[in-house]
Amino acid sequence: MRKKSVAEKFFWSQEKEMAKHRIAVIPGDGIGPEVIREGVKVLEAVSKNLGGITFEFSYFPWGCEYYLKNGQMMPQDGLEKLKNFEAIYLGAIGDPKVPDHISLRDLLLKIRFGFDQYVNLRPVKLLESIPCPLKNKKPEDIDLVVVRENTEGFYTGIGGRHKKGDSKHAIYAKINKVFADSEEIVTQEGVFSQIGVERIMKYSFKLARKRKKHLTCCTKSNALNYSMVYWDEIFKKISGQYPDVKTDFAFVDAICMWFIKNPEFFDVIVAPNLFGDIITDLGAMIQGGMGLAPGGNINPHGISMFEPIHGSAPKYTGKNVADPIATIWAGQMMLEELGEKKAASMIMEAIKKVLKEGKVRTKDLGGTSATSEVGDTIVESILKM
Ligand SMILES: NC(=O)c1ccc[n+]([C@@H]2O[C@H](COP(=O)([O-])OP(=O)(O)OC[C@H]3O[C@@H](n4cnc5c(N)ncnc54)[C@H](O)[C@@H]3O)[C@@H](O)[C@H]2O)c1
Repeated sequence: MRKKSVAEKFFWSQEKEMAKHRIAVIPGDGIGPEVIREGVKVLEAVSKNLGGITFEFSYFPWGCEYYLKNGQMMPQDGLEKLKNFEAIYLGAIGDPKVPDHISLRDLLLKIRFGFDQYVNLRPVKLLESIPCPLKNKKPEDIDLVVVRENTEGFYTGIGGRHKKGDSKHAIYAKINKVFADSEEIVTQEGVFSQIGVERIMKYSFKLARKRKKHLTCCTKSNALNYSMVYWDEIFKKISGQYPDVKTDFAFVDAICMWFIKNPEFFDVIVAPNLFGDIITDLGAMIQGGMGLAPGGNINPHGISMFEPIHGSAPKYTGKNVADPIATIWAGQMMLEELGEKKAASMIMEAIKKVLKEGKVRTKDLGGTSATSEVGDTIVESILKM
């Protein structure tokens, strides 16, 4: 590569100092808009404090309300519109008036697959002073990351229903007290490609290298004798390239057990799509609840999307009681990915400080504070740094 001239270096550094990030914001449904409002507020506070970094937020009103009006979760050219941004910041999607498989597939999965966001990064970290449902577990015991494969597995939507509702030729049979009145059969394929599995393994090994150098392969190769045996084989093959990383295998059911009994055993866990989704809800609970669990859908070479791992929590909608910390933390992960390390650590520090002080806490953490109060207090803390 050609070396930069002195003048070029000067302008490049100026430009870098004045980084402007173009972010697409999809507040979504339910508590989504309430929590994303706080997330944006916090990002703006960081910009105000640090000076050299600004954000341009563009809002997209997509989700279930949009679906009820237009028959689709986002416009046909939605991905085309998102292509012009550096990252996507999302609240939550889902409404009881729209079937979940439609809202998930036609928006979230469309974006995850469309931008090849093959890493779903989910840190599970117990912060100081957060009540943990596990007896005698301290922050140093719960500090792990789940790397969930995000574009394959059982989420590709490949499968079908054969003889749907067909009862014409059904054999009316009563077997084991079950009365079958239809011949319908249903399949849902688990998809695992060499590219898909190798890249998620490599990402996980690299991440483990930056942490405690321990990677666990979440599997179920005892029962899933093709897909998970293949998954394990590739894990073993790739491990040869990272001899400094300690490795082991754990069945997904055993991981659930260990999360409760000995979460301190884990550092980084690489998991197929479905298992990763399931174990991270358990992970969220041991770190204090759904309101505290952030996630990133990452394409290391493209456009990534950041969101809390929770859903739209319909029962809390419009009440200003949802915990915004997962979303604020997801914003912190977005800054990390954008290379804004200083800004990212500022947010993390503020989250920790406000939680430790314990004066402002939402209902899930035993407090009475409003969603907006938590956001405001984190903003104040950032502005004082
Ligand atoms: N990424 C997403 O947008 C996403 C993820 C999961 C579920 N969903 C959708 O969300 C809807 C509701 O699903 P659900 O009830 O299974 O899961 P959910 O995560 O919305 O809520 C489950 C429970 O977790 C708690 N919770 C969640 N977020 C919280 C917050 N910020 N603060 C405090 N407590 C919080 C509440 O007790 C809530 O009842 C469904 O339509 C579902 O499809 C969307």
